[in-house]
Amino acid sequence: ARKFFVGGNWKCNGTTDEVKKIVTTLNEAEVPGEDVVEVVVSPPFVFLPLVKGLLRPDFHVAAQNSWVRKGGAYTGEVSAEILVNLGIPWVILGHSERRQLLNESSEFVADKVAYALSQGLKVIACIGETLEQREAGITLNVVAEQTKAIAAKISNWDNVVLAYEPVWAIGTGKVATPAQAQEVHADLRKWIHEHVSADVAASVRIIYGGSVNGGNSKELAGQPDLDGFLVGGASLKPEFIDIINSAT
Ligand code: 13P
Repeated sequence: ARKFFVGGNWKCNGTTDEVKKIVTTLNEAEVPGEDVVEVVVSPPFVFLPLVKGLLRPDFHVAAQNSWVRKGGAYTGEVSAEILVNLGIPWVILGHSERRQLLNESSEFVADKVAYALSQGLKVIACIGETLEQREAGITLNVVAEQTKAIAAKISNWDNVVLAYEPVWAIGTGKVATPAQAQEVHADLRKWIHEHVSADVAASVRIIYGGSVNGGNSKELAGQPDLDGFLVGGASLKPEFIDIINSAT
């Protein structure tokens, strides 16, 4: 069985006071145990040590990016080794905001995934189509191409969670319907079965992201191939706890 996974991507938000407040809310929340749902929150880099230090021990932290190879003279970047040194277990890679706004290609994202895994990080790898691509009927081709680039560079998927985040659903309030999400998750799992292995297809968690909130998470969570969420805006609010609780 695939353990439910709920990630909170705080993106480029928060002041020290706001971050402390969110952590306090999370720490006081009643949620199922770590054996039932894995919870990971991802503050901006500079808040990672603060959040890690204050956060309850059954929740974990993720960085929102890491450099594509070993650190060195790369101004403004943070390497996987630095994250490991700080005890940060997870990293989000290939988010559509970085693919689109910073021109990160599928190749580049795949290199980052491979390098982060090689250093011992666990990776939330993001994929997803734009509205234009969905309307052109090429959703599966797009997510398969993004996944294929990663599959070509890694051999062990144990420490990978795939986040399907349709670009048109991110920050728009236009959540995918449970049927739309399930369809892509099932297609993707089938693609993995055929192109990676039956074992990986059965075990890899495919989580959904894009306008998930406390009101729509329960029905989405009921879909058989949907193994959790990557939450943006709602992860900054107390309703994140309702989303975590939709695991059961
Ligand atoms: P929203 O939940 O704000 O739509 O963002 C989703 C997302 O991009 C999570 O990584």
